[in-house]
Amino acid sequence: MKDFQDKIAVITGAASGIGRALADVFAEEGMRLVLADVEPTALAKAASELTAEGYDVLPVVTDVRRAEDVQRLADQTISEFGAVHLVCNNAGVFAGGTLWESPIEDYDWLFGVNVWGVVHGIRTFVPIMLEQDTECHILNTASMAALTVMPFAGIYHATKHAVLALSEALHHELAARDAKIKVSALCPELVSTHIDDAARNRPEELGRGLDTAEARMVNQIISTGMKNGAAPRVLAERALRGIQEDRFYLLADDGWRDSANARCDEIRDAINPVLRPPL
Ligand SMILES: NC(=O)c1ccc[n+]([C@@H]2O[C@H](COP(=O)([O-])OP(=O)(O)OC[C@H]3O[C@@H](n4cnc5c(N)ncnc54)[C@H](O)[C@@H]3O)[C@@H](O)[C@H]2O)c1
Repeated sequence: MKDFQDKIAVITGAASGIGRALADVFAEEGMRLVLADVEPTALAKAASELTAEGYDVLPVVTDVRRAEDVQRLADQTISEFGAVHLVCNNAGVFAGGTLWESPIEDYDWLFGVNVWGVVHGIRTFVPIMLEQDTECHILNTASMAALTVMPFAGIYHATKHAVLALSEALHHELAARDAKIKVSALCPELVSTHIDDAARNRPEELGRGLDTAEARMVNQIISTGMKNGAAPRVLAERALRGIQEDRFYLLADDGWRDSANARCDEIRDAINPVLRPPL
């Protein structure tokens, strides 16, 4: 997609971090925005900031874990703007700890937001885009965690591997149909956002998660990483360029990339995995 003027972008997880920066960058390209997030006050704040700058914005409180919420998001998008050209399946959450000690609710929550959120985005919006038959793009926020595996963050890595696999399959399937819809997988490194406080949006019925030494350690690493991470705007601009240039893999270019490359070498040579922290 090269021409963004007056096109419609739907962004999930738009109230904070990378999603909020995507909203800024696509608004500056002339797009009209549908902002979706589960946190109503943060969403209202993001929408009023963008409206004050003169942008056309529709906020829709959405829990991406729920198919009916994402369907409502699509319905409101079409009734307000009549079309959709870019969908950013970006909402995501993190929780750490060993795989065997993590409560089943951690799996429910991370797979619910990170994987089912993307599944609902694909199942809801791709048929609309196919029907429209105009140039469109799906941007799924995966992570460099989709190309690497670190201990005590296994559930998160598994969800992001799933997002990358879904994105790659979607890319092939749309090409097989000769569709005008392109796909990119945004794979950020550590970015300064509020993902270290993802539990602020953890549903009450899913409890509070683990409080073990490893869970605290990985949360501490993430919190420190947040302070030294890339600016969300850097990722949003990388996403914009990737969409303009029709590139699928939008990868980090730091220690995470070295870790991912080393893992590819191990897989190619069938060598047992060696832990290579990217930091
Ligand atoms: N920050 C990083 O270092 C980093 C690195 C790689 C990938 N990512 C990915 O980037 C994406 C954005 O995360 P971020 O870092 O900007 O974090 P963030 O916490 O700043 O923003 C995430 C947004 O998603 C929203 N959200 C959470 N659960 C939701 C739900 N059920 N439905 C709808 N919205 C929901 C939150 O309210 C929040 O506004 C995520 O997919 C994350 O996994 C982040």
